[in-house]
Amino acid sequence: MPYVSTNDFQIDTHNFLNRLMYNTIPLIEDIFWVGLNDRHTDLFENLWPLPKGVSYNAYLVRDEKTALIDTVEVSRGNDLLLKIKSLLKEGQAIDYLVINHIEPDHSGAIKDIIREFPDITIVGNKRTFQILAGLYGITENLLAVKHKDELPLGRRTLQFAITPWVHWPETMMTYVAGEGILFSGDAFGSFGALDGGIFDNEISMEHYNNEILRYFTNVMGSYAGMAAKALKKIEHLDIKTLAPTHGPIWRNRVQQMLDDYERWGTYQAEKGVVILFGTMYGNTEKMADVIARRLVEKGVHNVKVINSARVHFSDILTELWRYKGVIMGSCAYNSGVFPAMGDILNKLSHIKLKNRLLGVFGSFSWNGGGVKSLQNFAEQTDWQLIAEPVETKGQPATESFNQCIAMADKMAEALENEQA
Ligand code: FEO
Repeated sequence: MPYVSTNDFQIDTHNFLNRLMYNTIPLIEDIFWVGLNDRHTDLFENLWPLPKGVSYNAYLVRDEKTALIDTVEVSRGNDLLLKIKSLLKEGQAIDYLVINHIEPDHSGAIKDIIREFPDITIVGNKRTFQILAGLYGITENLLAVKHKDELPLGRRTLQFAITPWVHWPETMMTYVAGEGILFSGDAFGSFGALDGGIFDNEISMEHYNNEILRYFTNVMGSYAGMAAKALKKIEHLDIKTLAPTHGPIWRNRVQQMLDDYERWGTYQAEKGVVILFGTMYGNTEKMADVIARRLVEKGVHNVKVINSARVHFSDILTELWRYKGVIMGSCAYNSGVFPAMGDILNKLSHIKLKNRLLGVFGSFSWNGGGVKSLQNFAEQTDWQLIAEPVETKGQPATESFNQCIAMADKMAEALENEQA
């Protein structure tokens, strides 16, 4: 049977109630989602806001040998064990724990699993085990696998794809040969807890669309190129289901997710402009509004004007990844850039987002510094500066506004040329 729904269990009341109680959900017969939702944590990695929560997806493959694919974060080990044990026979153990990714949001419950199943074999790669020893002091019962190695479980066989830096150096993926299920680790994941629906045909994509890109940019932005490379490592697989460690499981959107990762990982972007500004008394913001209006008049309808001091970098980065054009403005602050803008420049210099069109502008009262800092950033990136910087002293007036309009025209033209 290709998919299993709760209807399939109506004839087996015990199983049905058991699964409802412990919320273990079958992907297909004998392969289960045993993940957990987190609606308590405010900041993922103590950095990224979780307004819709997040899920930690783990999976159980039940066969002659039973394999658990990843675990959950440290405080939820007991909940995970309850789920797993509800799917095993009395006294039955798990044979393998496959660590696709050892970041603690997925490896936090490893010690709980080993305590419960002391004979379990841990499956990972050379790099997994280096980090495993460092994080948990675990050095025994290890089975190291390489790219395309296979592990037979009985009816089903697991095949491994080594895909480093998606998102840590040890990351790998596990494919259930014959069923087309790829347990993909962080790749293809999303922020947002699973509110009942766990498959893409059970959920509203409106709830997740932005969260998928926000997750990619926040968690994997620095390694985006490696995400694109990982696609090459799995292109030989016939993928019917993408089962990541966070967010929905993809069945209908498999190709869409692969295409999105190809685009995001190669820094392709939509026609649109993000105008980021830092202002103290509103002069730089007035310039931003003039640029925004002119862009719209020139046919650029995706324009986002963002006050750098009021919007979290998580959302700023997502918009920067989405759109091709970036126009940055800053007032002068202590002869330098406005602090919130400086923070963004610093973070971007680490993340190394590529292939953008850039304009810079700003204002000062007695000496400059803001625009100069933006120019320095422009020189250090590979972003294409599309116009001379615009800098105004005090209140912007006609001449400055005309220069802003000219910059908007240049940006609109450059965007048009990109499309051609
Ligand atoms: Fe979800 Fe990189 O851990």
